Amino acid sequence: MRAAITGTGFWVPEQVITNQDLTRLMDTSDQWIVERSGIRERRWLRVGEDGRTELTGAEMGANAARMAMADAGITADDIDFVIYATVNPDIFFPGNGVFIEDLLELGTVGAMDIRNQCTGFVYGLAAAEGFIRSGTAQTILLIGGEIQSTALDVSNRGRDTAVLFGDGAGAAIVQGTEEDRGVIASVLHSQGRFARELWAEIPCGNVAGRYTPEMVEGGGNHPHMNGKMVFKHATRRFCEAIREVMKKGGVGPDDVALVIPHQANQRITDAVGQRMGFPPERVFSNIAKYGNTTAASIPIALAEAVREGRLKSGDLLVLVAFGSGFTWGANLLRW
Ligand code: COA
Repeated sequence: MRAAITGTGFWVPEQVITNQDLTRLMDTSDQWIVERSGIRERRWLRVGEDGRTELTGAEMGANAARMAMADAGITADDIDFVIYATVNPDIFFPGNGVFIEDLLELGTVGAMDIRNQCTGFVYGLAAAEGFIRSGTAQTILLIGGEIQSTALDVSNRGRDTAVLFGDGAGAAIVQGTEEDRGVIASVLHSQGRFARELWAEIPCGNVAGRYTPEMVEGGGNHPHMNGKMVFKHATRRFCEAIREVMKKGGVGPDDVALVIPHQANQRITDAVGQRMGFPPERVFSNIAKYGNTTAASIPIALAEAVREGRLKSGDLLVLVAFGSGFTWGANLLRW
């Protein structure tokens, strides 16, 4: 039994925030952002007078899921498990997976969240494959979704991070199949000694009341990143993970039709493509439109790649990610 992706979908907020829009909030420029990251615009949910976003993260995920279900030609009745990858759950607990179960009326199927940041979808697909191979589930709804905009410090203090991130959700239907397609191999890694190089501290389970005034003053409710260090590690780990997953699957770079990297930064994507010898047309990129949407970036990119006709039946596909944790990993699939 193999685990194949049989449908994809995505949903992004209507509101486009251009680099020019950000210059009204902080000292930055379109040129700085484009040169450093390749990002031209991102989508941010609108926030109402009550301070709440127009949709919850789970509602975004449900929209992406409906598109993926239609694409796979299945209904809610066919889904027997939900995996929701996010670093930004709507609330501290329970996770977004159970809200999806409710929103899509999935009838008490199992639901779990994966907290693996930008690597969430890669970990989620590996987990989905394991559940399918073991017979625990047959048709899994795998979602990566993020509301980043509400966490960002859009003042000068947070400008190195705030310009990079966007909101959105992507979804995939992962199903058991006897056919020669689907996940061939996955590799998963972490290195917690670098956890503090890219993190958001609040809410903090080991602090009474979940935060202190000092933590708030220090910006602990916003993501913080050591950009240069993340850049260096990401470039190295992306390449390692691609090499490792290809080796595990017994294939070489020339066999791979498309690489979909987590959309962290166009400079990282370009460096990885060059080092690995993949020409630009075999490395998918949509970061210019959406920025870094963390766990949502790979499933959004996959859904767009499918709709652009970038994958045909039998193609070998590599999904690869690196992110906070540090965590990194890759999946090799036959489409
Ligand atoms: N607009 C304009 N200037 C900015 C800025 C912004 N949004 N953010 C920071 N700067 C300034 C800095 O203050 C610094 O000024 P200084 O030289 O006067 O001190 C200057 O730009 C250079 O900053 P630096 O941090 O050296 O830039 P960089 O070349 O390292 O680029 C990142 C910053 C964040 C774009 C880059 O480090 C990066 O892409 N890192 C990886 C990010 C990533 O992919 N994260 C997600 C991983 S999953």
